[in-house]
Amino acid sequence: MTTSELWSQAEAERYDGEENEMSSAAVLGPTVDFLAELAGDGRALEFAVGTGRVGVPLRGRGVPVAGIEFSEHMVAVLRRKTDEETLPVVIGDMATAAVPGEFALVYLVYNTISNLLTQDEQVECFRNAARHLRPGGRFVIELGVPPLRLLPPGQVAVPFDVSAGHLGFDTFDLAEQMLVSHHLTRDGADGRYRRGASRHRYAWPAELDLMARIAGLTLERRVADWDGSPFTQESTKHISVWRRPV
Ligand SMILES: C[S@@+](CC[C@H](N)C(=O)[O-])C[C@H]1O[C@@H](n2cnc3c(N)ncnc32)[C@H](O)[C@@H]1O
Repeated sequence: MTTSELWSQAEAERYDGEENEMSSAAVLGPTVDFLAELAGDGRALEFAVGTGRVGVPLRGRGVPVAGIEFSEHMVAVLRRKTDEETLPVVIGDMATAAVPGEFALVYLVYNTISNLLTQDEQVECFRNAARHLRPGGRFVIELGVPPLRLLPPGQVAVPFDVSAGHLGFDTFDLAEQMLVSHHLTRDGADGRYRRGASRHRYAWPAELDLMARIAGLTLERRVADWDGSPFTQESTKHISVWRRPV
């Protein structure tokens, strides 16, 4: 059984509305371009496909896409966009669930590897990706660099958004390599704030490279964003591509 928290019906119903920036053409255009090029004429498998924010437009580009997703509520929202024949989804844990066939590309975006709360499960997720890849196939992860340089000694929280409609901050347990993302979101016209929190196991790129190596994959490319900009010591996130040997 996974340590991932189950995304509720209420979260699923809000997801596409709240993720305006992440669902914008400015974000999705380069994301889909990047993934479509790697898929080539092969099939793609999205771990934690959610409501199909990325999978649906990638399918629209002609790439056959399948998904694994833990929350039936998220899949119910996806099903309003596309049917099972067009984008099949297995309900299950991305660390263990199996989808028939071989894939040119497995991808796991929007920090979602961190929803697996133990190192063992994150390693299993890499192994599961490798099991689904054809020789020469690629596993892509999008993940934030842990923002620990922003955490002064003695403090436990780092704010990441302070705007009129939303207050967001992360709190850290450095000994356990865990963070909790806290959100206070203005809900409706009466000015009240809704409180939400999600737990994550953060990891640096180097730890992911080791997980990939355990799974038999080799780092091919690491960039700072979907536009291919170089990854540097100032980068706040990375897109990493590991390859199964031919
Ligand atoms: C931030 S959303 C990302 C959804 C989609 N990939 C996107 O980019 O919009 C995280 C998703 O991961 C799913 N999830 C979390 N843990 C999971 C697991 N162990 N196996 C499969 N899906 C999981 C959640 O249900 C949720 O749909």
